[in-house]
Amino acid sequence: MNVILIAAITADGYIARHSNDTVDWSLDLHLFKEQTMGYPVIMGSKTKKTLTLDLKGRNEIVVNRNDKPKTILNEIKADKCFIIGGGKTFTRFSTYLTHLYITIHPLIFGKGVALFPNLKREMDLTLIKMLPVQERENLYQFQYKINH
Ligand SMILES: NC(=O)c1ccc[n+]([C@@H]2O[C@H](COP(=O)([O-])OP(=O)(O)OC[C@H]3O[C@@H](n4cnc5c(N)ncnc54)[C@H](OP(=O)(O)O)[C@@H]3O)[C@@H](O)[C@H]2O)c1
Repeated sequence: MNVILIAAITADGYIARHSNDTVDWSLDLHLFKEQTMGYPVIMGSKTKKTLTLDLKGRNEIVVNRNDKPKTILNEIKADKCFIIGGGKTFTRFSTYLTHLYITIHPLIFGKGVALFPNLKREMDLTLIKMLPVQERENLYQFQYKINH
């Protein structure tokens, strides 16, 4: 199964200003919706609290610190699923990721929630696609495969 991290990030690698921040600056929500529609989406409990709407058409799996990423993933029957945040959840699922889909936004936060806070290992990536975000000039989603 493909396990795809999908995120909007700033040019300095942050996904939020702080843990309770809502991501109102993301410019690619339509792409997020199109790509995740029909697939399970896994998120941390903090991220769930920041969402103002349910993600209709997607099986939302909300995880907390007692859930084991491997067990959660083993229960999924789909051919792909998306890890949609936040940072702690990205780090916890990092071992199981097969792809990263990240849209780099023209912003610098200087501090905040990193894409992978406290990651204990490095990852080697291959860029497989640079997808232009429709109707957003010079905004691209970078799709990487993770080389394990
Ligand atoms: N830019 C983007 O694309 C994007 C996407 C998604 C989210 N976000 C943003 O990311 C932020 C939230 O990220 P986050 O990293 O703070 O939270 P998170 O990953 O959404 O959720 C926190 C997770 O970590 C667990 N946890 C908390 N303390 C822990 C500990 N000491 N040891 C192990 N697990 C622990 C929580 O479990 P418990 O429930 O047990 O505490 C929960 O599962 C929000 O501002 C959200 O808007 C941005």
